[in-house]
Amino acid sequence: MIIAIDGTLASGKGTIARRIAAWFGLPYMDTGRLYRATGVAAIKERIDLADGELVAAVASSLDLNDFEEAELRTAEAGVAASKVAALPDVRTALLQLQRDFANQKLGAVLDGRDIGTVVCPDADVKLWIDADVEVRAKRRHLELRKAGDAITLEDLTQQLRERDERDANRKDAPMKKAADAVLIDTTDLTIDAAVDKARAVIEEVMARN
Ligand code: DC
Repeated sequence: MIIAIDGTLASGKGTIARRIAAWFGLPYMDTGRLYRATGVAAIKERIDLADGELVAAVASSLDLNDFEEAELRTAEAGVAASKVAALPDVRTALLQLQRDFANQKLGAVLDGRDIGTVVCPDADVKLWIDADVEVRAKRRHLELRKAGDAITLEDLTQQLRERDERDANRKDAPMKKAADAVLIDTTDLTIDAAVDKARAVIEEVMARN
């Protein structure tokens, strides 16, 4: 049972994916974390974030234990992640790791931008999570403020639009809803309601198989 959960930034996909994984007892991978860690490591090593070869070398030798969760959650880490995620060599370097995780015996839940389209095109269930940009910006703003980040809502909204744009328009594995993914729009949903919806879709697919 492979469940692919893709969607836009701060759409709720991470929370939904974590809760779905716990509910169905499946291992969970937050694939954005790989790109965030790559971006953060490249900044630490003072590598140019546009240098595909060097950043891909960083991605290949990544040890996720080297990072504090808080440093991966900053707005800066998000921007760096989006930049390095546009480099084809970096995506290649991280692809097998994600596929291996997906193909473990028990199955898995993966969330990201290209799980249903590139990493696991044969996933049993594909969800696409989205919400209006203003709502997403407000959610992420709250999270970042709680974490002590002073970024303004205006700056964050702008940053979010730029990241959406970059993620959706890159040549390699752009952020895109797979044709067979089920859309869940969380604009007017509480997180509990969104998780319920996701669970209903998955249970329906399981009942069919
Ligand atoms: O989901 P997130 O905010 O942690 O993702 C950070 C960045 O990583 C995002 O801007 C795009 C990139 N990403 C990607 O290109 N492919 C994925 N499967 C996951 C994330």
